[in-house]
Amino acid sequence: MRPLLIAGNWKMNKDLFETLAFLQGLRAYAQKHKEERVQIVVAPAYPFLLTAVDLLKDTPVKVAAQDVSSNEDGAFTGEVSASMLASLHLSFCIVGHSECRQYHSDTDDVINIKLQRVIKNGMKPIFCIGEKLEERQSGRTNEVLQRQLAIGLNEINLSAGKDLVIAYEPVWAIGTGQVATPQQAQEAQAFIRNFLLQKYGAEVADTVQILYGGSVKPDNIKEIILQPDIDGALIGGASLKLDLFTAMIDLAKEAVKIK
Ligand code: 13P
Repeated sequence: MRPLLIAGNWKMNKDLFETLAFLQGLRAYAQKHKEERVQIVVAPAYPFLLTAVDLLKDTPVKVAAQDVSSNEDGAFTGEVSASMLASLHLSFCIVGHSECRQYHSDTDDVINIKLQRVIKNGMKPIFCIGEKLEERQSGRTNEVLQRQLAIGLNEINLSAGKDLVIAYEPVWAIGTGQVATPQQAQEAQAFIRNFLLQKYGAEVADTVQILYGGSVKPDNIKEIILQPDIDGALIGGASLKLDLFTAMIDLAKEAVKIK
C-alpha cells in the first residue's frame, strides 16, 4: 500500500515568530511520530524554509516550497530557482497550484518546465491540478484533468512513482468550505491514476501518491483518505493551526490501519 501523505500548504500566512512557534510545536509532536505509513510535509513561505529544514531535521517531517521559478538563473528579480531550493535540502516543491495558475499566469506549459526543473534538482514536485466550478458543471472535469496532466507531464520520464506526487485540488473546493464528496474526489483521482497507467505503466501508477486538496478539515479528512485512490491531503486553512494539523495526522494514522 502507498503511504499516506499529510501536507500543510501555509500559502502567504505566518511571519517568522508565528512560523517558529508552530514548527517548535510540530517538532515536539513529530519526535513521537513513529508511523512510517503516514508522512508529514509543511510548506512555509520562502524566507522561512531554511529555518524549517533546520528545526525539523531530526524529525520525519519534510519541508516543501510553495512554488519555483520556471527560469534556471539570471536576471529575474523576485524569483527563486529550483537549484536554490535544492541547496536548502528541501524534499518537495508544490508546482502548479491553482492560485499560481490564477494570479501568476502559470500556464500548463510553464508548469511543465517548473516540474522538469524540480525533478532535475532532486526534489519531488507536488503537482497540483483541478477543474474550476464551471468546468465541472459543464461536464468537462476529465477533459481538464487530461489536458493539465498531458501538458504538465510532457517529456517527463518517470521510472519510479517515487519522483512525483500529484494533488487533485478542484478549484471550487479551495478555501470555500465546499469539500468534494469522497466519491467525487475518488472518481477524479481514479481518472488521474489511469492516466499514469497509460503513460508510465503499472509500476509508476501504483506508486505515485495522489493527494486530495480543498477544504480538508479534521471532520472530513478520514472518509476522504480512506478512498482507494486518495493517498493523503494537501491542506490550506486547517493546516495553519497546530492542533488541527496534528489532529488530521492522528486521523491519518487511524485510517492507515484500516485502509
Ligand atoms: P484549503 O484547505 O484552505 O481549502 O486550501 C487547499 C489548498 O489550496 C492547499 O494547497
